[in-house]
Amino acid sequence: MAVNLRDSWSIRGVEVPTRIVLAPMAGVSIQAFRRQGRRFGAGLVCSEMVSAAGIEHRNERTFGYLRVAADEHPLAIQIFGSEPQAMAEAAKMVEAAGADIVDMNFGCPVRKVTKTGAGVHLMEDPALACRIVEAVTAAVGVPVTVKMRRGVANGSRACLELGPRLVTAGAAALTLHPRSAQQMYTGEADHSVTAELVDLVDVPVIASGDVTSREKALAVLEQTGAAAVMVARGAQGNPWTLREIAEGDSFSPTREEVAAELVVFIREAVRELGEQRAVGFLKKFYGWYLGHGRFPKPFKQELVQLRTTAEVVTRLYAAAPGAAPLVDRLDAELPAAEGEVLLDLPISVYGGG
Ligand SMILES: Cc1cc2nc3c(=O)[nH]c(=O)nc-3n(C[C@H](O)[C@H](O)[C@H](O)COP(=O)(O)O)c2cc1C
Repeated sequence: MAVNLRDSWSIRGVEVPTRIVLAPMAGVSIQAFRRQGRRFGAGLVCSEMVSAAGIEHRNERTFGYLRVAADEHPLAIQIFGSEPQAMAEAAKMVEAAGADIVDMNFGCPVRKVTKTGAGVHLMEDPALACRIVEAVTAAVGVPVTVKMRRGVANGSRACLELGPRLVTAGAAALTLHPRSAQQMYTGEADHSVTAELVDLVDVPVIASGDVTSREKALAVLEQTGAAAVMVARGAQGNPWTLREIAEGDSFSPTREEVAAELVVFIREAVRELGEQRAVGFLKKFYGWYLGHGRFPKPFKQELVQLRTTAEVVTRLYAAAPGAAPLVDRLDAELPAAEGEVLLDLPISVYGGG
């Protein structure tokens, strides 16, 4: 039976209006990215991972601090760490900041994270993983969810052993990216493993990995029986993918539309991170937005060299003069970031999942 991607579903009482979840991505999923994702059809958005250890060791190298706006909900905030008590404390802060869901990262394969016992390392220590879920669910009233990889080694099926135990420990939903940590992002996500997990647990499962089109989203939902799909790399500089997945029409944005979205994204990133950090943060987005044959290649190189975001915006308007009225229209439609909460939890400079 074909699934309607615009149907709502819920995670223990938190209603999610579509079956499309925007993935947590370290160094990407800032508030500007999440709010844009909601506008383009994501039913649930997720913050990049924030460090629970950062609460205790405030000297941790950080990229910035998490900001939550009133119009992001439903919002999952993802935390990572390996100490049940520190995770419970972080979860309380995240709940107080307005998270509708506390998500935990048990999938990050990056060594700086795994060597602290966090991320995918927890898949090799099921007892500790369950203790963390128990401590966090006891600490907060909102649903607690976990994001996993299939396991550490290629071909691992650890998620199928761990998943049901995490649900018994209190997890209200599970996300699976069915690649091994060893694979990083190579090969393909094996969603036959996702289908097996769906059969084993009685909570919603979110399927993450290689969902880049509506066709793929429908195929994964049908193959796995998952409640929703998660989109990560496919949405980088390409919110139109979310609209295509949600609505079915193939959206090829015009140059003006691309430039207008990028101008708004730049402005929001500066508001969030400050000019100095935003300049570096935004560089990768220029390639993502301007690629896909939308602008000539040298144009991206030119933008990356510029020293201020104001210069970048000026160049974008020069290259796509029709973008200015579109920015005005977006401004009129965009809700103000009112009631914003600045969370004293550091965004990690490294990440993955
Ligand atoms: C740049 C980048 C950063 C990521 N950061 C996180 C993260 O902070 N937490 C997490 O659970 N997964 C993270 N992931 C994994 C994604 O959420 C997703 O599971 C994975 O990329 C597979 O989906 P895709 O094929 O749609 O990209 C990251 C992925 C990328 C590419």
